[in-house]
Parts: sequence; structure tokens; C-alpha cells
Amino acid sequence: MTLSGGELRDLAGLAAAPVTRWLGHELVLLDETTSTNDEAARLGRDGAHHGLVIVADTQTRGRGRQGHGWYSPPGENLYLSALLRLDCPPRLAPPLTLAAGVAVHDAVASLGVRATLDWPNDVRAGGRKLAGILTETTTRGQTLEFVVLGIGLDVGTTAFPPELQPIATSLALELAPASAPSRAHALAALLVELERWLDRFIAGGAAAIVPAWRERSELIGTRVRVQDGARTVTGIAHALDEEGALLVHGDDGAHHRIFSGEVTTA
Ligand code: BTN
Repeated sequence: MTLSGGELRDLAGLAAAPVTRWLGHELVLLDETTSTNDEAARLGRDGAHHGLVIVADTQTRGRGRQGHGWYSPPGENLYLSALLRLDCPPRLAPPLTLAAGVAVHDAVASLGVRATLDWPNDVRAGGRKLAGILTETTTRGQTLEFVVLGIGLDVGTTAFPPELQPIATSLALELAPASAPSRAHALAALLVELERWLDRFIAGGAAAIVPAWRERSELIGTRVRVQDGARTVTGIAHALDEEGALLVHGDDGAHHRIFSGEVTTA
């Protein structure tokens, strides 16, 4: 374990007594970093091993998908990245985001919060975003060198900035004060579920994850608007296929198979 300063001492017990078989046995706890995804990629380039997990107390440039930032105040939430070295071609890695979504869903369920999944990476409770996932791959030619799986889970924030108040929530806001988990408890639950679903993904690929994702999502069957760069598709999200792509029956009469983009329910 690497521990800088003391802001995350509440999490140090996890390194001493791991709750997992392999994930996070190498645990780096940082008081502050730009982004745990950046830090994990840097360590990955330096040869760090499969299963390394980095957790920061705060991020100065926390990143979300599509160029968005990620609100990362100190002392309140979980910001973590896992470094994964997988024996699969790069094109098979994106559904890892779905596996992480299922894992976050099940982790918060074990803490008493009923969440739903939006494609590809939002975890929502009561219609607001509770967690986000940012998966970034590093390739060499046609080979996947490593994947960084970044997860932001809002655990303790009770006063979001005004612009986030209508769209963000946390475990503390979703639960009665007496049931709100500590960060250490939430991290333990998250690592256990993440390892369970990563094991399934490693053994069975996207097909082992997609049915579980579907069961935890309310998106299928609803009207959606998908923004993928300059392309906009509106229509009915009618399925998630075995590779994790979203199938949309478009208002233009065409069937769209969508691999990336920002989905809003229309
Ligand atoms: C999103 O929903 O847009 C994805 C948000 C991902 C946030 C996490 S916090 C830990 C890791 N480090 C980052 O900079 N981003 C991810």
C-alpha cells in the first residue's frame, strides 16, 4: 500500500485486511491528485500490475465522459481507478463499463440504495446521478496494453453546488442519516462487487454481463435521444445486444446500433 498524508487513513484498514481475492491488494491512497485515471495510466505505463487500485481524497481535475468534469470535493466521496491488464482485443474492452455499472449498482444495493443503470455508464437513484464510470484504454498496435476503470461514487456529499443540485445525489442523501455508510464501508462493498463482475467479464465477455445490465436498467423500451459527436439519433431504445451496443429504432425509420454517446430520455 502507498499512503500519502493522512486524509484517507479511514481506508487504510482495507489494505491491511483485503476483502477481495485480487482487486485492490495493491492500493494507492492519495490525498490529492489531478485525476485517479491519470495517475493509474501513469503507473500503468511504468509497469504496474493488474488489479492495482488508486483512491484519492480529492481530485483537482476529475474527469467525466464527453469532456465533462467530475465534482471531487475532499473528505466526502470515493474517486478511484482500477488498472486492468486483460487478455482481449481492444474492441472487446468497452463493455467493461457495463460490468462496472452492474457492480456499482449491486454495491449500493448492498448498502440499502436502489439504483438504476443508464447506458452506458450512469448509476442513478431517485432520477439523479449517484455514480459515474470512465473507462480509458491504452493500446499498442492491435494489442490492449491496459484499461483504466475510473469510478466516482458520491458517498457523503449532502450539499452539491447549485448547478449539480437538480441532477446529482449521494448515498447520504438517499439514506437515513443512521444508515449512511462511511467511505471505507462503501469502498469495501464496491471492491467486492467490482471483483465479482470483473471475474464474470474476464470469463465470459460482454455476454456474461449484458443480461444483468438489462435487469438493472429501465432504459430499454423508452424514448431516447443519443448524441454521439455531431450525430443525433432519437427513437426507442429497444435492446442491448450481446456486445453491449444500444439498439435504437430511430424516428427516421432506421435501426441504429450505438457504441458510444450521451443518452438522455426524451
Ligand atoms: C461520467 O459519468 O461522466 C464519468 C465520471 C467518472 C469519474 C471518476 S472519479 C475517479 C476517476 N477519475 C476521474 O478523473 N474520473 C473518474
